[in-house]
Amino acid sequence: MATISAALDNPLLAGLEPEKQVEPLSFVIFGANGDLTKRKLIPAVYALFLQGLLPASFVLLGTSRTVFSHEQFRAAMKESLIKFAPDLPFTEESWGRFAQSIYYQPADSSKDEGFQEIKKTLAELDEKHGTGGRHVFYLSTSPSLYLPIIKGLSVSGLVVKTKANETTYPRVVIEKPFGHDLVSSRYLDEQIHEVLREHQIYRIDHYLGKETVQNIMVFRFANAIFEPLWNRNHVDHIQVTNAETLGVEGRGAYYDDAGALRDMMQNHLMQLMALVLMEPPISMDAESTRDEKNKVLKSLRPLSNESLAHEVVRGQYTNGFILGGQVPAYRDEPSVSKTSNTATFAALKLSVDNWRWSGVPIYVRTGKRLAKSITEVAVVFKEPPHRLFDSKDQVSGEMRHIPGNVLVMQIQPDEGISLKFATKQPGPHTTVRWLNMDFKYGTAFGTRTPTAYERLILDCLHGDPSLFARSDFVDASWSYIQPIIDAWQDAPEIPKYASGSWGPVESDQLLAATGHSWRRL
Ligand code: BG6
Repeated sequence: MATISAALDNPLLAGLEPEKQVEPLSFVIFGANGDLTKRKLIPAVYALFLQGLLPASFVLLGTSRTVFSHEQFRAAMKESLIKFAPDLPFTEESWGRFAQSIYYQPADSSKDEGFQEIKKTLAELDEKHGTGGRHVFYLSTSPSLYLPIIKGLSVSGLVVKTKANETTYPRVVIEKPFGHDLVSSRYLDEQIHEVLREHQIYRIDHYLGKETVQNIMVFRFANAIFEPLWNRNHVDHIQVTNAETLGVEGRGAYYDDAGALRDMMQNHLMQLMALVLMEPPISMDAESTRDEKNKVLKSLRPLSNESLAHEVVRGQYTNGFILGGQVPAYRDEPSVSKTSNTATFAALKLSVDNWRWSGVPIYVRTGKRLAKSITEVAVVFKEPPHRLFDSKDQVSGEMRHIPGNVLVMQIQPDEGISLKFATKQPGPHTTVRWLNMDFKYGTAFGTRTPTAYERLILDCLHGDPSLFARSDFVDASWSYIQPIIDAWQDAPEIPKYASGSWGPVESDQLLAATGHSWRRL
């Protein structure tokens, strides 16, 4: 097992530690008894602690309606840490030191008294630990509570709008989904901006914290050889795939209301796509990068009735087999309506109306209960301009013309980058075969990859919002997606696909219409 201390000794990682120290502060989690806290947040904060990235004066205060004593909460968090983060080095000694910073305050966040109790406890803890009254509030609750909590924090004086140039405390981290559609997202945003400035709001999108997603920018802008090819002159099309073998995993009630568009497309995949398509930012400061990503969304060609009919595909899984095991149909999942028309699969063809990408189709697909769990971005380059060779299809053995090179950024699993290129097969004839030149994180760095939440929480504690979604991005993304939501609302019976397949047949037709096909993954 690669430990965190081993990771720090790795010469390849030298220089990667943040230069700035996190200031003493209190980190308050709303929804502290929830799944996300147990599975992701506590392991992430503990990992930061192990790496010495937390300040000596640090308080983690959990709150929810469940009644726990401090000790009971610590015990519950210890249990979930062991269960959900087995890769983290755990000793009673290190946990004991970490647990000294953990506290719990039961509170009903729909009532003013709840906030008064939190305020009182926080003041005592700030005093005891010397955290200087700096607060970061993490909203890991049901989205319906975001606004009541932010209002409650404001009424109690726990959050105040900073002046433009002041320190950015207090900060509020908001989980996805940010809104349910364009109208509700705008309303939420307006209401939040009444009590907080944009630079105090951290809208989390965990895809942005993934190492491989961050590496898209490094790959593109720290290597001069790829960028000259990264445009309509050389790229034939781009395929973004997010495929999961998982179904809705006990989240039927949430998912049936959300579906693939809201759950993955509006946030994670739009962010991913923006990083692939954006122009180089003028610097790595938060606003330059976010400005460039936003320009990509502004360049997306709005969906017309024609494109809604032909360039957008939905599907829902029926029963089938995943990794040899039988799985039920979506409509038979717990808490899902038997007549549900919710899409568990969505595929889109996007057109980007700007100088760089004009005429290059960008295909994006996401789905649950597909044949394999894999997330990747494949940049498919144009074919050689003049045909000198034929190549042998590696599956059928048939001779065919040489397709374009493919650069694949594999986000997960087997994180890495590979370049597919043609080469001569050794022998008396000129037979062209395809090979991959591979970079794999696992073998190259041989170390544990920090989780997305580790990186994002650390950035938030540092006050760096670069990897968080800005208000205008969220708005532009909902604006693009909304016509699809509307069109699907009244659409007839949803196309089906068998669990364990690659989605509905319409997904293949979407690409076939332009002479393309999805990569065989
Ligand atoms: C979440 C979605 O945001 O992302 C889930 O709500 C999805 O439905 C998950 O499974 C995918 O994240 P990852 O990191 O496993 O690709």
